[in-house]
Amino acid sequence: MATPGIRPLVAGNWKMNGSLAMASALVGDIKARHQGGALPVDLLLCPPFPYLAPVGADLAGTAIALGGQDCHVKANGAHTGDVSAAMLADLGCRFTILGHSERRTDHRESSATVAAKAKAALDAGLTAIICVGETEAQRNAGEELKIVENQLIESIPSGANVRNAVVAYEPVWAIGTGKTPTVADVAAMHRHIRALLEQRVPGGGKMRILYGGSVKPGNAAELMGVAEVNGALVGGASLKAEDFWGIAEGAAKSAG
Ligand code: 13P
Repeated sequence: MATPGIRPLVAGNWKMNGSLAMASALVGDIKARHQGGALPVDLLLCPPFPYLAPVGADLAGTAIALGGQDCHVKANGAHTGDVSAAMLADLGCRFTILGHSERRTDHRESSATVAAKAKAALDAGLTAIICVGETEAQRNAGEELKIVENQLIESIPSGANVRNAVVAYEPVWAIGTGKTPTVADVAAMHRHIRALLEQRVPGGGKMRILYGGSVKPGNAAELMGVAEVNGALVGGASLKAEDFWGIAEGAAKSAG
């Protein structure tokens, strides 16, 4: 079991992919599998903002949760193109992903911004999925533990606790590349994150720490079985129901 007493969370981050028709078909297929035999794993779908309402309607009455991929720091105001955490909550979201490496790069989000967004999410009653991860150059320089530690310290807001926050470790070089760290490297990083959470966050010993980066049905059981890995944040493979479900089944093998 990856961490005794922690139920795994398998989250699909669709990123900026799909169409309304594709979202409907994908959710229908995942729901059918879920209704055919629920797994001892929590499932979460994070579609692009425009598809939250229809996906939320499709998920109504199921145990599959809905989440956003970002939110603004403020609750409302003159911020063209942005979406607040309260708006996500209004649509039935229970989670939002924050500080994904693509946002840290594409939108130059600092860890301080991520912490402010996470605070806004908590204030709106959402669970914040706070993403951290090193680049390939940082790993090659042997700096990965320190980099992730600093990102975490700066990205976790005051008020975060075991019930309202999740950490996702996503090595930047493993995202969408087909490359994954070794099991030993994942174990070392997740142990490091756990120790930090235990020191700094109420209930941090039981906070979920997800792994993300090229998770597939073929490697899910091995990765999810690593000590202190409590689920997955899945990109590309979450766009195919068969693959997403295969990953959930892999996570179920390590569930207690
Ligand atoms: P991939 O699963 O496509 O590597 O993406 C991982 C990710 O960034 C999830 O947030």
